[in-house]
Amino acid sequence: MSYVTTREMLKKALEQHYAIGAFNAENMEMVQAIIEAAEAKRAPVMIQTTPGTLKYADPMIFAGMVSRLAEKATVPVALHLDHGNSYELAEYCVKQGYTSVMIDGSLLPFEENIALSRRVVEMAGDIPVEAELGTVGGKEDTHSAGIAYTDPDQAETFVRETGITSFAPAIGTAHGVYKAEPRLDLDRLSEIAGRVRIPLVLHGTSGVPDDTVRECIRRGICKVNYATDLRITFSNAVKAALAAQPEAFDPKKYLKPAREAVVRRVCELIDVCGSAGKA
Ligand code: 13P
Repeated sequence: MSYVTTREMLKKALEQHYAIGAFNAENMEMVQAIIEAAEAKRAPVMIQTTPGTLKYADPMIFAGMVSRLAEKATVPVALHLDHGNSYELAEYCVKQGYTSVMIDGSLLPFEENIALSRRVVEMAGDIPVEAELGTVGGKEDTHSAGIAYTDPDQAETFVRETGITSFAPAIGTAHGVYKAEPRLDLDRLSEIAGRVRIPLVLHGTSGVPDDTVRECIRRGICKVNYATDLRITFSNAVKAALAAQPEAFDPKKYLKPAREAVVRRVCELIDVCGSAGKA
């Protein structure tokens, strides 16, 4: 019985200075792998899906899979809408049983971002809401942006006026594959953490060196998002399995090693987050 909202797990992470690993899943195998890794590490975990993923498979499919597996799991598991791109999608995910949502109004003017985020908070009730101000760079689904660092003054106003549960500041990371090592503005992160005092979220983490992620957690990050890394891990394992057995025609034969590869990788990333043993 451990299908939970993110409220308690993020609060505990904030108090105890570690981060919840938030892992993007694209299919059943990745959902299974993330929960298996969380159980192996005794870690609370978040599974998240982007709007692009939800175009591929309806939120009810992920809510069904994750809620049923989570009820059997012995660690807290939450299901989160990542980069929700409309009020309607956020509302639909809440109705389908998601236990956390993000509304991403980061491309809107400041006041409109506040108004949209606040509306989603009001709609969501007990379901925690994450929102972003400034822009994380790179491309996630159709959402594409350069990096626009979050202004700490605006961050304080934004968090106060929206009533959100967690906040994603832009500090120099980008979604997707980095062409050069990202340069993060860690002092800005510390300043924002000192001002807003709610759990902070690191987006665009694939490709950020582990020590830098740990430093971000030390400075107030409580949720760390990994998407590209797991997509690559899964796909490389499928390619390797098919290369080794080109005559394979049963999906189970080449998806099983991919699922196992994701379990191993999520275990490593949970260690980076410092959430092992925190269930
Ligand atoms: P990466 O694809 O860089 O891991 O970013 C994930 C993310 O921030 C999802 O919101």
